[in-house]
Formats: sequence, C-alpha cells, structure tokens
Amino acid sequence: MKITIIGAGNMGGAIARGLAKSGTFTEDAITCTARSAATLEKLRGTNPGFNLLTDNVAAVNGADIVVLAVKPWLMQGVIEQIKFSFDPHKQIIVSVAAGISCSRLEEWLTAGMPWKGTYLPAIFRVIPNTAVEVLESMTFISAVREGIPQLQLVSHIFAKLGPVMVVPESQIAACTALASCGIAFAMRYIHASAQGGVEIGVKADDARKIVEHTLIGAAKLLLEKGAHPAAEIDKVTTPGGITIRGLNEMEHAGFTSAIIRGLKECVK
Ligand SMILES: NC(=O)c1ccc[n+]([C@@H]2O[C@H](COP(=O)([O-])OP(=O)(O)OC[C@H]3O[C@@H](n4cnc5c(N)ncnc54)[C@H](OP(=O)(O)O)[C@@H]3O)[C@@H](O)[C@H]2O)c1
Repeated sequence: MKITIIGAGNMGGAIARGLAKSGTFTEDAITCTARSAATLEKLRGTNPGFNLLTDNVAAVNGADIVVLAVKPWLMQGVIEQIKFSFDPHKQIIVSVAAGISCSRLEEWLTAGMPWKGTYLPAIFRVIPNTAVEVLESMTFISAVREGIPQLQLVSHIFAKLGPVMVVPESQIAACTALASCGIAFAMRYIHASAQGGVEIGVKADDARKIVEHTLIGAAKLLLEKGAHPAAEIDKVTTPGGITIRGLNEMEHAGFTSAIIRGLKECVK
C-alpha cells in the first residue's frame, strides 16, 4: 500500500512523519510533495527514505491513497492538476483542508471527467490536529456519502496516529474548534499557568513541566476512569480551601465563559 501527501507542510509533513513513526507505512511507501525544494529538504532531514517530489502528477501515479494537505484556497488548483491522473476505481482521496466540503471536492474532481456520473470516487475529509506527530491526534473523519467501503481503511490508517471519530460532515466545524483550535487553547493555558508559576516563585522550566504533566494527569484521570470533570474538581476542593478560592477567582475573571465564547467564535 502506498500513500502520497500533496502539500507536506506543517500538517501534511506531520502526517507523513506520524505514519512512518507508527510503522503504518514504510518510508519508501510514502511520497510527499511541496512547492519548494526547501520544504522537501527539511523532510529529507528527518525521514531520508521518503519519496520527495515537486511534481504532483507523478506523485499521484501509483498511490493507493492521495492526501491533499495544501491550504484551502489552493485546493481547487491542485485538484485540477491531478484529476487526469487520478484513477477513481483504485485510488482514495483524503482532504485535510479546513472548510472545504466533500461535495465541493467531488465537484472539482469530477468536473469534465469521462467517468463522471458512472463512477463515484471515494472522498474523505479527515481533520487531524498537530499532535498527529506524536501519535496523539484527535482525528475526525467524514465520508462523501454513507456506506463507502474504503472508510474502514481510512479509519484504520488514521487510528495509528491517535483516536479517530467518524462524524457527519455537519459536525466537522464544531469538532475542529474543539480539537484543532483546541490544541492552541490548551497551549495558551499551559503558557499562562507557567507564567503564573514564575510569579509565585517556581523557575520557568520547572513551572512548564509541572503544568504539562498536570494536564496529562487530568486528562488520564478522565479518560481512564471515565470520570466527569466536575466530580474530579469536587475531590480536590476542600471547603474554604485554596483550590476553590483559586478556581472561583478564575471564574470571576470569566474563565468558563471565555472558553465557550472562544469556541463559538471558531465556528462562526
Ligand atoms: N495546522 C492544523 O492544525 C490543521 C489541522 C487540520 C487541518 N489543517 C489543514 O491542513 C492544510 C495545510 O495547512 P498547513 O498549516 O500544513 O499549511 P502549510 O504549512 O503552509 O503547508 C502547506 C504545504 O503545501 C505546499 N504546497 C502549496 N502549493 C502546492 C502545490 N501546488 N503542490 C504541492 N504542494 C503545495 C506548500 O509547499 P511550500 O512549503 O514549498 O510552500 C506547503 O508545504 C490546510 O488546508 C489546513 O486547513 C491544518
């Protein structure tokens, strides 16, 4: 099985490295493209066995799965370029672009093609987050239509890079806000806490490490015990104690409300 990643920048490159690191594909079964040789050279530095090309058409030939990871506004042009060498009988298209629906991708891919209407291509939207590189991406998958048999293969591949949820396309924007934008929100919390830690007397590096491990611990408590966050908060908030005083002070400053407002802004 061979996979081609068109646009191996931040996300495409992270997917390629994650697939190699997890052993899902050998390096020589992964082809990556970019516009510039400089981007490909960076990939050569980390994964010398990847096939690295600037020619998208050549990269699509012989691939079983074609992952489109260019910026959304470049997607139509790239599809126009590769669609004549795309074989809808054998190949699968996976787009990671935010905001481009499966039906739009299908429209671009099938326009003017002799097989349009007689053959339905297998198209998926896959939304990973940047934790794909450390095999901890929360990834969402939607298919162009129900009952596509290739869904199992696509889910199986991305499940090597972290947990996968198959969701209706109408849910993708909300899920993206929680998981892809959510990575940035979590990073801001870590940074803010570490800064606070320094102010209350902990060295910057130590403060960051403490916060990072505290977050891992909190997430594991919930994931492994199936507990509710409110129940875990009750356990650590002694009446009249310091934790509840700290938490309530954060709420007075709008903590919960700020997060909800930020998430709603992401899906506008
Ligand atoms: N970052 C995230 O958390 C995240 C999450 C989910 C989805 N996404 C989606 O991932 C996609 C890529 O985002 P990104 O942040 O990874 O952008 P990026 O770092 O700019 O990567 C895009 C890559 O596409 C390459 N490229 C541009 N035009 C090309 C062409 N005609 N043929 C081949 N390669 C081409 C660029 O090559 P050069 O480097 O040579 O210019 C670049 O390496 C976007 O559609 C975004 O919506 C991102």
